[in-house]
Amino acid sequence: MEGLVQGKVALITGAGSGVGRAACLLFSEHGAKVVAADINGANAEETAKMVRDAGGECVAVTCNVADPASVDAAVARTVEAFGRLDAIYNNAGITISPIPGKGLRSLVECDPEEMKRVEDVNINGVIYGSQAAIRQFDRQGGGGVIVSTASVAGLMGYGGVLYGTTKGAVVQFTRALAIEVAGKDIRVNAVCPAGMLTHYAGMDPDSEHRDRILEGMGKAHPLGKAIDPRDTASAALFLCSDLASNITGVNLPVDGGLYAGRKVGG
Ligand SMILES: NC(=O)c1ccc[n+]([C@@H]2O[C@H](COP(=O)([O-])OP(=O)(O)OC[C@H]3O[C@@H](n4cnc5c(N)ncnc54)[C@H](O)[C@@H]3O)[C@@H](O)[C@H]2O)c1
Repeated sequence: MEGLVQGKVALITGAGSGVGRAACLLFSEHGAKVVAADINGANAEETAKMVRDAGGECVAVTCNVADPASVDAAVARTVEAFGRLDAIYNNAGITISPIPGKGLRSLVECDPEEMKRVEDVNINGVIYGSQAAIRQFDRQGGGGVIVSTASVAGLMGYGGVLYGTTKGAVVQFTRALAIEVAGKDIRVNAVCPAGMLTHYAGMDPDSEHRDRILEGMGKAHPLGKAIDPRDTASAALFLCSDLASNITGVNLPVDGGLYAGRKVGG
């Protein structure tokens, strides 16, 4: 059976961990040739090896999404390895460091240098990735797909203020860019996950308390289940696939119903 992205070439950022790693494995299971990009080159290489060990085609590249030259180089490496680029998944993202033992930092507790770093990765990283991809799509004569990882925090007040603001920017960028490039048959969408147990925000997916943490995360959602990185990767896979060929400008929650609202009364 053909995979959902059979023969397509996908560049995935933040590929050394969490959602990005899950996406590399899932896209490859569905027939894509994958470039695993991460600022941590050793982790990107580990992901690429996992994909190859499972029988897929994957190369790793060290890439800082906050540096446009580094992103251009990752696209160039993709074309060198696999001849073209069909989809970029702008997934790399960071958050403001929590206060140990206390949790989320309020806005007034945020350090300006760290705020700038988070904005650079979460907003500019998506912008530079999209610019580089569109230039390559243009060289190929049109078509192409851009998917980004925003967050449910970009749709509603949820979690840290500054982080949510960066993800809200990705949500609006997705809509506006979708309109700008629709005439070139380039589709632009985003996925908006709720909390997942990854290495993000200093969490530990291998924690001895993993089951209890996941149970707590699940209770926050109407469906009652924690979001798995693979759930988010699945939504990105769908949006990159031809099944979504008439879908653009969408910010798709992957949140167990959290953004839909809350039940009132019995
Ligand atoms: N985990 C959550 O609760 C959650 C919820 C909503 C949205 N998200 C978003 O999901 C995406 C993936 O996060 P995750 O949960 O897999 O976290 P993660 O920390 O496990 O993985 C993020 C990866 O991005 C890489 N990265 C960080 N800065 C980078 C840069 N400048 N250039 C390239 N790579 C960089 C890291 O090295 C890491 O491998 C992020 O955009 C995050 O904001 C996460």
